Amino acid sequence: MQVIIRPTKEKASWLAARVIARDLRSKPDLVLGLATGQTMERLYGRLVQLHREEQLDFSLCRTFNLDEYIGLPPGDKNSYRYYMNHHLFDHVNIDMRNTFLPDGMAEDLGAECTRYEGLIHDVGGIDLQLLGIGRAGHIGFNEPLSALQSRTREKVLTPLTIEENSTLFEDPSRMPRRAFTMGVGTILECARLVVLVTGESKAKVLAKAVEGPITSMVTASAIQLHPNCTVICEEEAASALQEKEYYRWIFDNEPEWNDFRDL
Ligand code: GLP
Repeated sequence: MQVIIRPTKEKASWLAARVIARDLRSKPDLVLGLATGQTMERLYGRLVQLHREEQLDFSLCRTFNLDEYIGLPPGDKNSYRYYMNHHLFDHVNIDMRNTFLPDGMAEDLGAECTRYEGLIHDVGGIDLQLLGIGRAGHIGFNEPLSALQSRTREKVLTPLTIEENSTLFEDPSRMPRRAFTMGVGTILECARLVVLVTGESKAKVLAKAVEGPITSMVTASAIQLHPNCTVICEEEAASALQEKEYYRWIFDNEPEWNDFRDL
């Protein structure tokens, strides 16, 4: 794992956008795994900017989202389908038929999970999966005690996640208590992980995920098992990390990051 600490949220988002853009340019039919949440809004803004100003081409790109609320139709303002259309898909030249999320209105929940895993399998797996970390320590909606080998399934959300995410609903009591999520095992099979974490409220959970023990109590800690994982954060989110000096040295000196330091 590599941890990159940028001075501001804006710079962290730019770096994540540039990493994605580089991979998309080198493989135009990239299979891109996407995440939602407030952290990602800034990043999607930068991807839209790269499309407009530098012709970043999404026409062949396929996308798979990590999760979706159960019981919300795609047109609901709080569904993750709506979020993705609003923040990214409507503003770039992606073919909507190549954008996939679990269907929150599916009648047979188990069949929907199998279908979603099958779709990922049929495109040959995800090349780059973008991840955020929730305050409950989750990636996707893999709440505490999610098996580290879990697959796409329905998950009951924790009170903390409900408290956090329901503030985005006009009527917080309307927030679903269940969601579909890719499993931790599904996520670990992606070829590359890019984790974007910003803000002071994430400092403790980021330290647990990156430097703590690997445990299903903090499913984000499973990223330590992945052979190609880059964590991008900023000073506030990084404040509880122990090895900051080491992480900084790597970013400042490793040739891999030469093109990214001045962003
Ligand atoms: C939701 C998503 C997660 C995301 C988390 C963090 O719970 N299911 O994938 O990481 O939100 O969101 P935010 O960036 O708003 O803190």
